[in-house]
Amino acid sequence: MKGVIFSGMRPTGKLHIGNYYGALTNWIQLQNEYKCYYGVVDWHALTTGYDNTSMMKENMIEMVIDWLSAGIDPDKSTLLIQSHVPEHAELHLLLSMITPLAWLERNPVLKEQVRDLNLKENMGYGLLGYPVLMASDILIYKSNAVPVGEDQSPHVELAREIGRRFNNLYNPVFPIPKLKLSHTPRIPGTDGRKMSKSLKNDITLSDKPEDIKNKVLSMITDPRKIRLADPGHPEVCVVYKYHEIFNKKEFQNIERDCRKAKLGCVACKKRLADVLIQSFQSFREKRNYYERNSQLVWDILMKGSEEARKVAKKTLSEVRKAMKIDYA
Ligand code: TRP
Repeated sequence: MKGVIFSGMRPTGKLHIGNYYGALTNWIQLQNEYKCYYGVVDWHALTTGYDNTSMMKENMIEMVIDWLSAGIDPDKSTLLIQSHVPEHAELHLLLSMITPLAWLERNPVLKEQVRDLNLKENMGYGLLGYPVLMASDILIYKSNAVPVGEDQSPHVELAREIGRRFNNLYNPVFPIPKLKLSHTPRIPGTDGRKMSKSLKNDITLSDKPEDIKNKVLSMITDPRKIRLADPGHPEVCVVYKYHEIFNKKEFQNIERDCRKAKLGCVACKKRLADVLIQSFQSFREKRNYYERNSQLVWDILMKGSEEARKVAKKTLSEVRKAMKIDYA
């Protein structure tokens, strides 16, 4: 094993294929090379969603069903619920003492959130500390690497700085974790914008074949190609972008035929729908199994959280000792 990995997702419910290619495929591969901890970070979800928590448990289960069905293996990786390992919160508190406010206030991710969610006066204390909580998730398992998407890299950079600061102030308890960016291509939403549940332009992993087909048929194509006989421009077409990612066998022929006006958009979409439906066939079968056995999913999370807790407790006692607050 090359070391320890931690990564987490906020419990958002069913995942879309962008989440799958952006994060999950990476997580699945890393299971064979690292000791992996994958967390459902419910406290992070509260930083912006504290006023609407009724779906939290259901969203957790739906998301973890997706993890398991996609190939996250609980025999290899430890799956945990952040709030079931309360040591994350104690470490968060201690790290908050040594984190300069200026580091948090200049965080570009926070600035973006404040703008997008129109928070201004309403920003909670917890949201400001989002990266400190994330640092505690990562550091408490002495992680060596953190696989995330590009958008999370400022957070991981802060976790590294907080870890270094702790090590310098007290004792070198924490390895400084490396950022591990996933290099998968970004999958656009069906309308060409960033794929997101709230924009309703997503294709979920669990979509039924019929839904996949309808979503593909609604995709935006080259506006200059109206009739079959019009030559198309694949570089501006969402359907083509998907062929490039999911249809490795055919995409070159599709590009050529589109440019030469030999392939119409409806036929091209039908081919894509077939490929997508096929790609997630075995996923849907596994998902079916976990849906019928959701107690099993909960048991996996309970067992994983307990396992994680042993490690977290050990790190925390080293932390207290290093800070000379163990009073033993
Ligand atoms: N902030 C991450 C996201 O929104 C989720 C997260 C929380 C995380 N703690 C983490 C990711 C620790 C990596 C490591 O995607």
